[in-house]
Amino acid sequence: MKIALGSDHAGYQLKRHIMDHLNKNCHECEDYGAPNGVDAASYVPYGQAVSQAVLSGACDFGILICGTGLGISITANKHKGIRAALCTNEYMARMARQHNDANILALGGRVVGSSLAFSIVDAFLAEPFESGGRHQIRVDEIKSTEQTNFK
Ligand code: RB5
Repeated sequence: MKIALGSDHAGYQLKRHIMDHLNKNCHECEDYGAPNGVDAASYVPYGQAVSQAVLSGACDFGILICGTGLGISITANKHKGIRAALCTNEYMARMARQHNDANILALGGRVVGSSLAFSIVDAFLAEPFESGGRHQIRVDEIKSTEQTNFK
């Protein structure tokens, strides 16, 4: 799979560790910044860039990391068609895919360590969406909420 990654300065180290982990597991990674050495970057442009990469189909899924995962997931969720899920454990990651059809995983670089982050990422990428049933109806309701509220 091709994965788009983005972070601010607070998520930078974890992003690099996750990219190494994904490469070892035969995934292709595209880094949308922030670049190395940035002292205090806003998470907003990186959340936007990864959201666009997923929406355009350039990448299959996105992974976004800031200090808490909050700002960057809020940014991503302002994009029509993006369902970004902030996960702190494997169970949330599995449910984000299975029930919510999340297309971006958000993580807090100051919240989870690398080995927990790897298991969250692996769970997220492995789990299929349970399409065609009640969860499909709810995701469709989210989409129709977007139609009503997003210009
Ligand atoms: C940066 O200090 C921090 O505010 C940011 O990484 C993120 O946690 C915001 O939601």
